[in-house]
Amino acid sequence: MQIVRSVQEMQGIAERLRSEGKRIGVIPTMGSLHQGHLSLIELAHRESDVVVTTLFVNPTQFGEGEDFERYPRDLDRDKVLAQGAGTDILFVPDANEMYPEGYGTFVSVEGVTEILEGAFRPGHFRGVATIVLKLFNITKPHVAVFGQKDAQQLFIIQKLVGDLNLDVQIRVAPILRDVDGLALSSRNVYLKSDERLRATALSRSLKHAEARVRAGERSVVRVKGEMQEILRQADPMKIDYLTFVDPSSFREVAAIEPPSLLIALAVRLGATRLIDNILIPVP
Ligand code: PAF
Repeated sequence: MQIVRSVQEMQGIAERLRSEGKRIGVIPTMGSLHQGHLSLIELAHRESDVVVTTLFVNPTQFGEGEDFERYPRDLDRDKVLAQGAGTDILFVPDANEMYPEGYGTFVSVEGVTEILEGAFRPGHFRGVATIVLKLFNITKPHVAVFGQKDAQQLFIIQKLVGDLNLDVQIRVAPILRDVDGLALSSRNVYLKSDERLRATALSRSLKHAEARVRAGERSVVRVKGEMQEILRQADPMKIDYLTFVDPSSFREVAAIEPPSLLIALAVRLGATRLIDNILIPVP
């Protein structure tokens, strides 16, 4: 596996690969890799000739008082994991390389970036859209893989690609969960042991909702109420949002209707903020 730190070198390599007819797959990450990331790398490996994993803790997507400084970083471990999962090139720029002195251009996807995560983390998606577009311009991928875990981020990236006519295919990898149901996330390491236990309420509430919808329940109010009850059993837990949206528009729905429903939630357990979601087919 080749380690590349400079933008110019990465662009040169990508250009050469393209001229050789190679299909490039990219997986943008902030490092602290876990099995979820590795499944994205494996998917890219199946879909492309050369797999580029990018590793950059992007400062512009963290708000004031968020965890930028303490975000887990372990490059040596990430190198081993990335290579093991099939990465050919690990792109690891530093902050100056990505945002040199005088940097001043940002990408703003309108509307959907203001709600849910965007409402609780103002400016977050502006940072995400900007860095993703920059990473696409640097690694020149044919295909890029993102996780369903960050459902709103995924929706915004798909919109960015569509609105700006970016010539890259977006592939989606399903959420990976621990045996107790907790969705894998780099931030899970922040959880104290009692919080880790209570955090399982997120996936339990989502699974409950899925079972109710599959059994024919169509009332948002009833299903949401039952989910809130499950989450309450894990108190103290602060629910930032628990919302039922149409996955094709990310608009909140008043009733559960075909063809599918996305339930997204964000909670705080102590100092840790967790998000999770489930995509449910509605017959
Ligand atoms: O999902 C992430 O890890 C980040 O938001 C991303 C897409 C790598 C951009 O920094």
